[in-house]
Amino acid sequence: MSSCRDALLAWALLGAAAAAAGGEPYPGIGRSATASELAAWDRDVRPDFKGLPAGRGSVAEGQVLWEARCAACHGVFGESNEWTQPLSGGTDAEDIRRGRAARLADPAYPQRSSLMKLATLSTLWDAIARSMPWDAPGTLSADETYAVTAYLLHLEGIVDAAFVLDRASAAAVQQRLPNRHGMQFEHALWPGGLPGSTRRPDTRGDTCRRGCPPPQRVVGFPPGHARDAHGELAEQNRLVGAQRGAPTSGAAR
Ligand code: HEC
Repeated sequence: MSSCRDALLAWALLGAAAAAAGGEPYPGIGRSATASELAAWDRDVRPDFKGLPAGRGSVAEGQVLWEARCAACHGVFGESNEWTQPLSGGTDAEDIRRGRAARLADPAYPQRSSLMKLATLSTLWDAIARSMPWDAPGTLSADETYAVTAYLLHLEGIVDAAFVLDRASAAAVQQRLPNRHGMQFEHALWPGGLPGSTRRPDTRGDTCRRGCPPPQRVVGFPPGHARDAHGELAEQNRLVGAQRGAPTSGAAR
Protein backbone atom coordinates (compact mmCIF):
# COMPACT_ATOMS: atom_id res chain seq x y z
CA MET A 1 0.00 0.00 0.00
CA SER A 2 2.65 2.49 1.05
CA SER A 3 4.82 1.77 -2.00
CA CYS A 4 1.82 2.53 -4.17
CA ARG A 5 1.23 5.81 -2.34
CA ASP A 6 4.93 6.71 -2.59
CA ALA A 7 4.87 6.06 -6.32
CA LEU A 8 1.83 8.28 -6.72
CA LEU A 9 3.50 11.01 -4.72
CA ALA A 10 6.66 10.80 -6.81
CA TRP A 11 4.56 10.93 -9.97
CA ALA A 12 2.70 14.02 -8.71
CA LEU A 13 5.94 15.78 -7.77
CA LEU A 14 7.51 15.01 -11.12
CA GLY A 15 4.41 16.30 -12.84
CA ALA A 16 4.46 19.49 -10.82
CA ALA A 17 8.12 20.00 -11.70
CA ALA A 18 7.44 19.55 -15.41
CA ALA A 19 4.45 21.87 -15.27
CA ALA A 20 6.55 24.49 -13.48
CA ALA A 21 9.12 24.15 -16.26
CA GLY A 22 6.25 24.99 -18.65
CA GLY A 23 7.10 22.06 -20.96
CA GLU A 24 4.92 19.08 -21.72
CA PRO A 25 1.12 19.25 -21.95
CA TYR A 26 0.79 16.04 -19.87
CA PRO A 27 3.45 16.53 -17.24
CA GLY A 28 5.20 13.42 -16.07
CA ILE A 29 3.76 11.28 -18.86
CA GLY A 30 6.18 10.69 -21.71
CA ARG A 31 7.05 13.51 -24.13
CA SER A 32 5.62 15.02 -27.27
CA ALA A 33 6.23 13.01 -30.44
CA THR A 34 8.82 14.50 -32.77
CA ALA A 35 7.93 15.54 -36.31
CA SER A 36 9.71 12.53 -37.78
CA GLU A 37 7.96 10.14 -35.37
CA LEU A 38 4.61 11.60 -36.42
CA ALA A 39 5.53 11.34 -40.10
CA ALA A 40 6.37 7.63 -39.66
CA TRP A 41 2.85 6.93 -38.35
CA ASP A 42 0.86 9.50 -40.31
CA ARG A 43 0.71 7.57 -43.56
CA ASP A 44 -2.91 6.56 -43.96
CA VAL A 45 -4.34 6.61 -47.48
CA ARG A 46 -7.92 7.86 -47.73
CA PRO A 47 -10.68 6.91 -50.15
CA ASP A 48 -10.08 10.10 -52.18
CA PHE A 49 -6.38 9.00 -52.34
CA LYS A 50 -5.20 11.74 -50.03
CA GLY A 51 -1.98 10.39 -48.54
CA LEU A 52 -1.14 8.12 -51.49
CA PRO A 53 2.60 8.61 -52.03
CA ALA A 54 4.27 9.15 -55.38
CA GLY A 55 5.40 5.99 -57.12
CA ARG A 56 4.36 3.40 -59.65
CA GLY A 57 4.27 -0.33 -60.13
CA SER A 58 3.29 -2.62 -62.98
CA VAL A 59 1.40 -5.91 -62.96
CA ALA A 60 4.55 -7.66 -64.23
CA GLU A 61 6.71 -6.27 -61.41
CA GLY A 62 3.97 -7.17 -58.98
CA GLN A 63 3.92 -10.78 -60.12
CA VAL A 64 7.64 -11.20 -59.33
CA LEU A 65 7.17 -9.65 -55.88
CA TRP A 66 4.00 -11.60 -55.23
CA GLU A 67 5.64 -14.91 -55.91
CA ALA A 68 8.67 -14.05 -53.77
CA ARG A 69 6.98 -12.40 -50.82
CA CYS A 70 3.25 -13.11 -50.73
CA ALA A 71 2.40 -16.39 -52.45
CA ALA A 72 3.71 -18.59 -49.65
CA CYS A 73 0.82 -17.52 -47.42
CA HIS A 74 -1.80 -16.33 -49.89
CA GLY A 75 -1.40 -18.85 -52.74
CA VAL A 76 0.04 -18.30 -56.22
CA PHE A 77 -3.25 -16.78 -57.41
CA GLY A 78 -4.29 -15.22 -54.10
CA GLU A 79 -6.71 -18.10 -53.72
CA SER A 80 -5.33 -19.63 -50.54
CA ASN A 81 -8.00 -20.97 -48.29
CA GLU A 82 -5.79 -22.99 -46.01
CA TRP A 83 -4.85 -20.56 -43.31
CA THR A 84 -5.50 -17.16 -44.86
CA GLN A 85 -8.80 -16.33 -46.46
CA PRO A 86 -8.77 -15.98 -50.26
CA LEU A 87 -7.73 -12.51 -51.41
CA SER A 88 -8.98 -12.89 -54.97
CA GLY A 89 -11.73 -14.69 -56.85
CA GLY A 90 -15.51 -14.63 -56.96
CA THR A 91 -16.25 -11.66 -59.24
CA ASP A 92 -16.87 -11.26 -62.98
CA ALA A 93 -17.18 -8.61 -65.69
CA GLU A 94 -20.83 -7.97 -64.81
CA ASP A 95 -19.85 -7.15 -61.20
CA ILE A 96 -17.21 -4.72 -62.52
CA ARG A 97 -19.90 -3.04 -64.63
CA ARG A 98 -22.45 -2.88 -61.79
CA GLY A 99 -20.12 -2.18 -58.88
CA ARG A 100 -21.75 -4.88 -56.74
CA ALA A 101 -20.33 -8.37 -56.29
CA ALA A 102 -23.34 -10.58 -56.89
CA ARG A 103 -21.93 -13.63 -55.14
CA LEU A 104 -21.84 -11.81 -51.81
CA ALA A 105 -25.57 -12.52 -51.73
CA ASP A 106 -25.21 -16.16 -52.78
CA PRO A 107 -25.17 -18.43 -49.71
CA ALA A 108 -24.00 -21.34 -51.88
CA TYR A 109 -20.74 -19.57 -52.78
CA PRO A 110 -18.09 -21.15 -50.54
CA GLN A 111 -16.04 -18.20 -49.31
CA ARG A 112 -15.92 -14.46 -49.72
CA SER A 113 -12.63 -13.10 -51.02
CA SER A 114 -11.13 -9.74 -50.06
CA LEU A 115 -11.56 -8.37 -53.58
CA MET A 116 -15.22 -9.41 -53.62
CA LYS A 117 -15.79 -7.19 -50.59
CA LEU A 118 -13.43 -4.30 -51.36
CA ALA A 119 -15.26 -0.99 -51.86
CA THR A 120 -12.30 1.41 -51.87
CA LEU A 121 -8.95 0.86 -53.56
CA SER A 122 -7.22 2.99 -50.91
CA THR A 123 -8.08 0.34 -48.30
CA LEU A 124 -6.21 -2.36 -50.22
CA TRP A 125 -3.16 -0.16 -50.80
CA ASP A 126 -3.12 1.01 -47.19
CA ALA A 127 -3.51 -2.49 -45.73
CA ILE A 128 -0.64 -3.85 -47.81
CA ALA A 129 1.60 -0.86 -47.09
CA ARG A 130 1.03 -1.13 -43.35
CA SER A 131 0.73 -4.77 -42.58
CA MET A 132 2.17 -6.95 -45.35
CA PRO A 133 4.11 -9.11 -45.80
CA TRP A 134 2.95 -10.44 -42.46
CA ASP A 135 6.44 -11.57 -41.50
CA ALA A 136 8.02 -8.16 -42.30
CA PRO A 137 5.33 -5.44 -42.29
CA GLY A 138 6.29 -1.97 -43.46
CA THR A 139 9.23 -3.18 -45.56
CA LEU A 140 7.66 -2.66 -49.00
CA SER A 141 8.63 0.54 -50.82
CA ALA A 142 5.86 2.66 -52.35
CA ASP A 143 6.73 1.30 -55.83
CA GLU A 144 6.57 -2.29 -54.54
CA THR A 145 3.21 -1.63 -52.89
CA TYR A 146 1.86 -0.20 -56.16
CA ALA A 147 3.17 -3.26 -58.00
CA VAL A 148 1.67 -5.99 -55.76
CA THR A 149 -1.60 -4.07 -55.61
CA ALA A 150 -1.64 -3.91 -59.42
CA TYR A 151 -0.99 -7.65 -59.59
CA LEU A 152 -3.86 -8.43 -57.22
CA LEU A 153 -6.15 -6.22 -59.33
CA HIS A 154 -5.03 -8.14 -62.39
CA LEU A 155 -5.74 -11.50 -60.72
CA GLU A 156 -9.31 -10.30 -60.25
CA GLY A 157 -9.66 -9.23 -63.89
CA ILE A 158 -10.00 -5.56 -62.96
CA VAL A 159 -6.92 -4.40 -64.94
CA ASP A 160 -5.08 -6.01 -67.87
CA ALA A 161 -1.57 -7.47 -67.86
CA ALA A 162 0.07 -4.29 -69.20
CA PHE A 163 -1.40 -2.09 -66.47
CA VAL A 164 0.73 0.27 -64.36
CA LEU A 165 -0.73 1.55 -61.09
CA ASP A 166 0.18 5.01 -59.86
CA ARG A 167 -1.56 8.05 -58.39
CA ALA A 168 -2.97 9.04 -61.77
CA SER A 169 -4.38 5.63 -62.71
CA ALA A 170 -5.78 4.82 -59.24
CA ALA A 171 -8.98 6.83 -59.71
CA ALA A 172 -9.93 4.89 -62.85
CA VAL A 173 -9.36 1.59 -61.01
CA GLN A 174 -11.66 2.74 -58.23
CA GLN A 175 -14.41 3.06 -60.86
CA ARG A 176 -13.91 -0.61 -61.82
CA LEU A 177 -13.88 -2.24 -58.38
CA PRO A 178 -16.45 -5.05 -58.47
CA ASN A 179 -17.99 -4.04 -55.13
CA ARG A 180 -17.43 -0.27 -55.20
CA HIS A 181 -21.10 0.39 -54.45
CA GLY A 182 -21.14 -2.15 -51.66
CA MET A 183 -20.40 0.11 -48.71
CA GLN A 184 -23.31 0.54 -46.32
CA PHE A 185 -23.97 3.88 -44.65
CA GLU A 186 -27.46 3.15 -43.40
CA HIS A 187 -26.49 2.15 -39.89
CA ALA A 188 -26.10 3.88 -36.59
CA LEU A 189 -22.33 3.81 -36.59
CA TRP A 190 -22.08 6.17 -39.57
CA PRO A 191 -22.19 9.77 -38.35
CA GLY A 192 -25.00 11.75 -39.93
CA GLY A 193 -26.69 8.84 -41.67
CA LEU A 194 -28.53 9.32 -44.94
CA PRO A 195 -31.57 11.60 -45.39
CA GLY A 196 -34.57 9.90 -43.82
CA SER A 197 -32.39 7.42 -42.00
CA THR A 198 -33.65 6.18 -38.66
CA ARG A 199 -30.05 5.33 -37.78
CA ARG A 200 -30.92 2.49 -35.49
CA PRO A 201 -28.32 -0.18 -34.88
CA ASP A 202 -28.93 -3.44 -36.74
CA THR A 203 -28.48 -5.42 -33.53
CA ARG A 204 -30.38 -5.09 -30.31
CA GLY A 205 -28.77 -5.75 -26.94
CA ASP A 206 -31.29 -7.66 -24.86
CA THR A 207 -29.84 -8.91 -21.62
CA CYS A 208 -32.24 -11.43 -20.17
CA ARG A 209 -33.07 -10.97 -16.50
CA ARG A 210 -36.35 -12.83 -15.95
CA GLY A 211 -37.82 -16.03 -17.35
CA CYS A 212 -34.67 -16.59 -19.39
CA PRO A 213 -34.08 -19.68 -21.51
CA PRO A 214 -31.86 -22.29 -19.82
CA PRO A 215 -28.17 -21.64 -20.42
CA GLN A 216 -26.56 -23.55 -23.26
CA ARG A 217 -24.65 -26.66 -22.23
CA VAL A 218 -21.22 -26.80 -23.86
CA VAL A 219 -20.47 -30.37 -24.88
CA GLY A 220 -17.29 -30.06 -27.00
CA PHE A 221 -13.98 -29.61 -25.19
CA PRO A 222 -10.43 -30.35 -26.23
CA PRO A 223 -9.35 -33.73 -24.83
CA GLY A 224 -7.48 -33.69 -21.52
CA HIS A 225 -4.10 -34.36 -23.08
CA ALA A 226 -4.44 -31.28 -25.35
CA ARG A 227 -5.59 -28.78 -22.73
CA ASP A 228 -2.12 -27.39 -22.14
CA ALA A 229 -1.24 -27.13 -25.82
CA HIS A 230 -0.76 -23.37 -25.31
CA GLY A 231 0.75 -23.54 -21.83
CA GLU A 232 -0.95 -22.46 -18.61
CA LEU A 233 -3.79 -20.21 -19.80
CA ALA A 234 -4.53 -19.02 -16.25
CA GLU A 235 -1.17 -17.23 -16.25
CA GLN A 236 -1.59 -15.70 -19.68
CA ASN A 237 -4.69 -13.59 -19.18
CA ARG A 238 -4.81 -10.15 -17.69
CA LEU A 239 -5.60 -9.90 -13.99
CA VAL A 240 -8.32 -7.26 -14.26
CA GLY A 241 -11.69 -7.54 -15.94
CA ALA A 242 -13.91 -10.50 -16.58
CA GLN A 243 -11.59 -12.54 -18.76
CA ARG A 244 -9.73 -15.29 -16.92
CA GLY A 245 -7.78 -18.15 -18.39
CA ALA A 246 -8.70 -21.63 -17.25
CA PRO A 247 -6.00 -23.58 -15.42
CA THR A 248 -4.76 -25.91 -18.10
CA SER A 249 -1.32 -27.17 -17.17
CA GLY A 250 -1.42 -30.92 -17.07
CA ALA A 251 -4.86 -31.23 -15.49
CA ALA A 252 -7.36 -33.25 -17.46
CA ARG A 253 -10.85 -31.82 -17.49
C1 HEC B 1 3.66 -15.06 -43.44
C2 HEC B 1 2.37 -15.07 -44.11
C3 HEC B 1 1.98 -13.91 -44.98
C4 HEC B 1 2.71 -13.30 -45.98
C5 HEC B 1 4.13 -13.65 -46.45
C6 HEC B 1 1.86 -12.30 -46.54
N1 HEC B 1 0.65 -12.27 -45.90
FE1 HEC B 1 -0.92 -11.06 -46.34
N2 HEC B 1 -1.95 -11.80 -44.73
C7 HEC B 1 -1.51 -12.83 -43.92
C8 HEC B 1 -2.48 -13.03 -42.87
C9 HEC B 1 -2.37 -14.05 -41.75
C10 HEC B 1 -3.52 -12.11 -43.10
C11 HEC B 1 -4.78 -11.90 -42.26
C12 HEC B 1 -4.47 -11.23 -40.98
C13 HEC B 1 -4.13 -9.81 -41.11
O1 HEC B 1 -4.81 -9.06 -41.85
O2 HEC B 1 -3.19 -9.36 -40.42
C14 HEC B 1 -3.16 -11.37 -44.28
C15 HEC B 1 -3.93 -10.37 -44.83
C16 HEC B 1 -3.66 -9.73 -46.03
C17 HEC B 1 -4.52 -8.77 -46.67
C18 HEC B 1 -5.84 -8.26 -46.11
C19 HEC B 1 -6.96 -9.20 -46.41
C20 HEC B 1 -8.29 -8.69 -45.83
O3 HEC B 1 -9.33 -8.94 -46.48
O4 HEC B 1 -8.31 -8.06 -44.76
C21 HEC B 1 -3.91 -8.39 -47.83
C22 HEC B 1 -4.46 -7.42 -48.88
C23 HEC B 1 -2.64 -9.08 -47.90
N3 HEC B 1 -2.52 -9.90 -46.80
C24 HEC B 1 -1.71 -8.93 -48.92
C25 HEC B 1 -0.42 -9.46 -48.86
C26 HEC B 1 0.63 -9.11 -49.80
C27 HEC B 1 0.48 -8.15 -50.97
C28 HEC B 1 1.74 -9.80 -49.41
C29 HEC B 1 3.13 -9.74 -49.99
C30 HEC B 1 3.76 -8.47 -50.09
C31 HEC B 1 1.38 -10.59 -48.24
N4 HEC B 1 0.07 -10.35 -47.94
C32 HEC B 1 2.24 -11.45 -47.57
C33 HEC B 1 -0.35 -13.55 -44.05
C34 HEC B 1 0.67 -13.24 -44.94
